[in-house]
Amino acid sequence: MAAGRAFLGAPCSSLAAGARRLAFASPLPRTLTPALSCGVRGRCIASASSSPDAASSPEPYVLTTPLYYVNAPPHMGSAYTTIAADAIARFQASLHPRLQRLQFLTRLQEKNVIFITGTDEHGEKIAASAEASGRNPKEHCDAISSSYKTLWADLDIEYDKFIRTTDHKHEAVVNEFYSRVLDNGDIYRADYEGLYCVSCEEYKDEKELLENNCCPVHLKPCVERKEDNYFFALSKYQHKLEELLTRNPDFVRPSYRLNEVQGWIKSGLRDFSISRASVEWGIPVPNDTKQTIYVWFDALLGYISALLDDGEQASLQQAVDHGWPASLHLIGKDILRFHAVYWPAMLMSAGLSVPDTVFGHGFLTKDGMKMGKSLGNTLEPKDLVERFGADAVRYFFLREVEFGNDGDYSEERFINIVNAHLANTIGNLLNRTLGLLKKNCKSKLAFDSIAAADGSLFRDNIENLVDNAKHQYENLLLSSACETVLEIGNLGNLYIDEQAPWSCFKQGGESVEKAAKDLVLILETMRIIAIALSPITPSLSLRIYTQLGFTKDQFRVLRWEDTKWGGLIAGQVMSEPKPVFARIETETEEDAQASSKAGKGGKRKHATKDL
Ligand code: MSP
Repeated sequence: MAAGRAFLGAPCSSLAAGARRLAFASPLPRTLTPALSCGVRGRCIASASSSPDAASSPEPYVLTTPLYYVNAPPHMGSAYTTIAADAIARFQASLHPRLQRLQFLTRLQEKNVIFITGTDEHGEKIAASAEASGRNPKEHCDAISSSYKTLWADLDIEYDKFIRTTDHKHEAVVNEFYSRVLDNGDIYRADYEGLYCVSCEEYKDEKELLENNCCPVHLKPCVERKEDNYFFALSKYQHKLEELLTRNPDFVRPSYRLNEVQGWIKSGLRDFSISRASVEWGIPVPNDTKQTIYVWFDALLGYISALLDDGEQASLQQAVDHGWPASLHLIGKDILRFHAVYWPAMLMSAGLSVPDTVFGHGFLTKDGMKMGKSLGNTLEPKDLVERFGADAVRYFFLREVEFGNDGDYSEERFINIVNAHLANTIGNLLNRTLGLLKKNCKSKLAFDSIAAADGSLFRDNIENLVDNAKHQYENLLLSSACETVLEIGNLGNLYIDEQAPWSCFKQGGESVEKAAKDLVLILETMRIIAIALSPITPSLSLRIYTQLGFTKDQFRVLRWEDTKWGGLIAGQVMSEPKPVFARIETETEEDAQASSKAGKGGKRKHATKDL
């Protein structure tokens, strides 16, 4: 968590008006005296601490994905951020003791996690795509937004809030926010003339464009625009933004993206227009219904309006009270400027806290080009899930692409990685150990895992690796966390190969006890792997856990703490050994010909998802 976190300056009844402040100017330590505590994380701690229930509530951890444009259904690039966010949410969250027990059962830490995603539905680009599809904008948004929800279900994504920027509660929050910024003197009217990229929904600086005024991201020419608009006085916040980044370098991560943001700010900030006279599909500007609010000035507010519960009074303060500021915004690097420059300035202007961290990840590329709807070089996540299952898709992208950097997709690599890691290292280890246990111990554990590990270095090694994985998850090093869990699997394989319990069972006598203990060691290791990998591969982890003789309900209440050695007890009966992850078989030439003659067409056999 960020060191000098921002401080909410929004009005709060127990704080004198004169004491309102912004924390980027004056950060406060986490332990606050009641008189000054109002506003941290959008709550009045002074009053909250008088209630024993609220006092012991875990700190909220709000994390967000971008709100996806509904110009077209999701592709693998949009799925990537959401998979990463889901893994982080599963790691960070856990059952909240009272409030959200059911909602957060499968999550691993003592935090009240709120995972927000949603769709960005206003603006010129969406209106144009609706028209092209022959639907009215609302119908179009409904259809595409629901295709996101379907994909998230297919990918085992468990979000807590799904905000649509066409929701009424969102509009109410945007209006209130706009009015606050206006009252603060940060909105003025002026003419603007410039080059606009509709795909980015952004006026571009000529310097950053390619030949023929083409946008470098979408490779399409920008269009000349001249409009009478309302402007946000971003330039007023130059100094405060510089100060924010100096005091809290974790505000932008990874650290190499911080330099980029600092560069933008240093080169001078220009006010930007926050309304459109030419766009009808949007939220009307308060007091000037001839204009609509610029789609970014609208969509960013979705991170706050999402916090409102359905049916409750839609007010900005109410939303803030539910957990603002966010701990983490996960975004792609192309929208860093909006999140790391425009957004904090907007929040400061409205007297609200800025988020702890904006993490800008890299792009999934195809032949080196950003995969995207505009370039039409996308990969269909739905197809991947149908062919290989959600665990394989989640694991591959989080393991293979270092979080922060770009990564290119190759089907061959996908199959090799998933087979080697999930089917062989993890799946086979469990399967052969359970096979040995069935044959030699009637599938019953002869020892507790603590007793089985007595005096063994093996346990220490596993525990060290688990600590590393925890640290890596905490630091968003998702690929490293996968690698570490796999290392645990490798240690298990090495151990069983070296100890060869199958021959110890054959030898009889004292060797049998040693062999029975070794099987417990490996199965305890599998139990730990199941928990440690569950943020990444939740279904696979559940299958491993149930093979170890636990129930689905027991799996659902696990926390990270349960990775501690000692979960297996003597007498526990394991389930029938069944492969938990089927290898992806590549078809031979003949198979391919046979299946194409039979009209199947596909090149690969499917991996079974649920065994
Ligand atoms: N609607 C805005 C976000 C508003 S947030 C208040 C938007 N939408 S988007 O649908 O175009 O992009 C959403 C996210 O998907 C961005 O973070 C973008 O970087 C990400 N990706 C789109 N294509 C991508 C790849 N090929 N690879 C990785 N992420 C990419 O921008």
